[in-house]
Amino acid sequence: MLTTVTPGEGGRMIELGWKDGAVSRFHAMWLRDNALDDKTRSAGNGQRLITILDIPAETRIAAASIKGEVLEVTFAPEGKTVGFPAGWLRSHAYDRQEAREPGWTAGDIRRWTKATMQNSVPRAAYADASRDSDVLRQWLAAVRSYGFAVMDGLPTESGALCKVADLFGYIRETNYGRWFEVRAEVNPSNLAYTNLGLQAHTDNPYRDPVPTLQILACIENTVEGGESSVVDGFAVAAALQAENPDGFRLLSSCPARFEYAGSSGVRLQSKRPMIELGSDGELICIRFNNRSLAPAVDVPFAEMEKYYAAYRRFAELIEDPSFEVTFKLEAGESFIVDNTRVMHARKAFSGSGKRWLQGCYADKDGLLSTLAAIEHGFKEAAE
Ligand code: FE2
Repeated sequence: MLTTVTPGEGGRMIELGWKDGAVSRFHAMWLRDNALDDKTRSAGNGQRLITILDIPAETRIAAASIKGEVLEVTFAPEGKTVGFPAGWLRSHAYDRQEAREPGWTAGDIRRWTKATMQNSVPRAAYADASRDSDVLRQWLAAVRSYGFAVMDGLPTESGALCKVADLFGYIRETNYGRWFEVRAEVNPSNLAYTNLGLQAHTDNPYRDPVPTLQILACIENTVEGGESSVVDGFAVAAALQAENPDGFRLLSSCPARFEYAGSSGVRLQSKRPMIELGSDGELICIRFNNRSLAPAVDVPFAEMEKYYAAYRRFAELIEDPSFEVTFKLEAGESFIVDNTRVMHARKAFSGSGKRWLQGCYADKDGLLSTLAAIEHGFKEAAE
């Protein structure tokens, strides 16, 4: 599929032509640093064996040719010849024309609303996911794409939620413990432990790094009400950006402050925006929690009224039923949320009956790692 190779700029780059008409340029320095030979990368673990300082600053392409499905490049002044598979070059091409707008998301992220999600909530049974890697793969892929999924068929006993985390990684322990109880208390240390409804929120924005996954499992739920709901923060952020670009700019560029000091010996504080963009404008994290939002002191005076208007509109959109997917957790059911994206809420419930949930945190990088390993066929490595 590689048809032409044309060196340019005195050997500082080459231009590759592909059978489908695509053109991609690569720099000599980039190719040399990413050479795939066993002097540059370990054949065993794939890790790079050289540093940038081992590569001559004046590196040039002295010769380049196509040998079947391989591009062969000779670098000067090293006089080193390396082969690059055409498929590898195609999948690593960085010569893109289109500019990315702030708020873009990766191709495997699927935003959703009530209309697209209420009747297709991703769900798997624990027994199936634990013995069938294909079921587990689909469930993990749903978390990657949609930021949440339900898992049912758990034992209705304390600590059962850890079994969900064990499927893909590890519990992240905090000052709340390895897991925490969510049931009504008198004089609670946290409003989560009452029968009040809770506005849709992300958990623990006062931690840095924030817990990236939360699992909530139900052991008993015989109250009136108390349904759970989830809201796609990425979908809401996109809606805000579409109708109020300047408000989106303020919420994504001005830091918010979050803090929690509700129990002795704990004084957690963070300074992060409600809508966080990566250095290239990628939408990477939503932090939204009325209970732990601290006074904003990093918004310019001239912008504070507009900042509050944007915060209000963001909250209105989060409350908009068209974004909300609702379900009632029954005993033995759990759900996981990507806490950097999907907000969760609880409806108020009446005092009769019992509602006993447990929650814990885990790490999304571990979940994505397990998913990628299954997708690459390493599923039985630990057995
Ligand atoms: Fe929560």
